[in-house]
Amino acid sequence: MSDSSNTSVGPDKFHYSRPLDWSPTNDLPNLKGKVGIVTGGNSLDSIGGNIVHQLALLGAKVYVGGRSSERVEHGIHSILTTSPSLAPANLVPFVADLSNWTQVKQRAEQFLQEETRLDFLINNGGVWTDDLDINEFGVNADLAVNHIAHFVLTQTLPPLLSKTALSSSTPKNAVRIVNVSSNAHSIIPQPTSFATLADWNNDFGGKQNQWSPAFRYGFSKAANILFTKELQRRLDAEDVPIVVTAPHPGSILTTGFAKVVGVDTEEWKNSLPASQGALTPLWCAVSEQVDDTCKGRYIMPFGVVAENTEFCDDETEAKNLWRVTEEVLGSAKLL
Ligand SMILES: NC(=O)c1ccc[n+]([C@@H]2O[C@H](COP(=O)([O-])OP(=O)(O)OC[C@H]3O[C@@H](n4cnc5c(N)ncnc54)[C@H](OP(=O)(O)O)[C@@H]3O)[C@@H](O)[C@H]2O)c1
Repeated sequence: MSDSSNTSVGPDKFHYSRPLDWSPTNDLPNLKGKVGIVTGGNSLDSIGGNIVHQLALLGAKVYVGGRSSERVEHGIHSILTTSPSLAPANLVPFVADLSNWTQVKQRAEQFLQEETRLDFLINNGGVWTDDLDINEFGVNADLAVNHIAHFVLTQTLPPLLSKTALSSSTPKNAVRIVNVSSNAHSIIPQPTSFATLADWNNDFGGKQNQWSPAFRYGFSKAANILFTKELQRRLDAEDVPIVVTAPHPGSILTTGFAKVVGVDTEEWKNSLPASQGALTPLWCAVSEQVDDTCKGRYIMPFGVVAENTEFCDDETEAKNLWRVTEEVLGSAKLL
């Protein structure tokens, strides 16, 4: 059995917009010499670990994100055990707790000292929380981890992302930022807004509403899409040729998903394995099919530009999100 055989799938039982008519081994380019970062990459039972695995099999050097050295080393060990042919030096720990933005910034600054290029940043790490859980800077846990930590990375790493993108040896559209989102962005009841911190901490009915955790999670995934669009607008305005996308990975059997839907439930049975959840983010990060039409777009499995909700197309909301994010990071002295 080849290393990548678990991603060559059978029928597309979910009728996603694009059938799974490709595989990483046959259809993604060789990545020798490329360098990437994947947050939340510490487990093969999750989407991120499988993204790391496939990128490494394609030859990339991958920085493996996770909240502790132990968890990241354990993840790297499982990948090397699954694929002993991989060079251990190509899997490098990127330890930072995404709920601790200072740690995230410091690790990203260290990366700038360690590497001379950055070809893809995959902002995949994420949480779904039971409670609002507001931190010392006034931000709930879903938005703190799923949005702000990745904003910090994306604002700290531009020296290398831009240098790589602007290098004469880098092909057009080869440098990518991938903000892993979700179709859950579409479930949030309207009206909502990102105009103020009070809006950010919308509890959607709290304990009185069983859907409150899902709505808060969906709201953070809407933030991923709005951030993607605003970041792309800003990069385009500065003529920095980086493609930013917000993929939905599909309905995927992972550690996180199991906590939400339970094991052996209908949702559980009707989901795809974690290896297949890696495919759409991978496509966004390295496929040569990604072109100008993908810039700033929501991407559905298994690699097709799709429509997102009207709320996520609202430029005012994208600017609100950016402004309040900067205000929060200013108060945390991280800007
Ligand atoms: N699974 C699905 O059906 C589905 C559908 C749509 C979108 N998504 C998105 O896909 C991405 C991956 O989801 P998943 O299902 O693979 O989730 P998962 O199984 O819960 O994995 C999430 C990853 O993020 C890491 N993480 C969480 N909080 C962190 C923190 N504070 N600091 C550092 N790392 C942290 C986790 O590390 P630990 O192991 O230490 O917790 C884990 O590696 C998420 O952005 C999710 O929103 C998933």
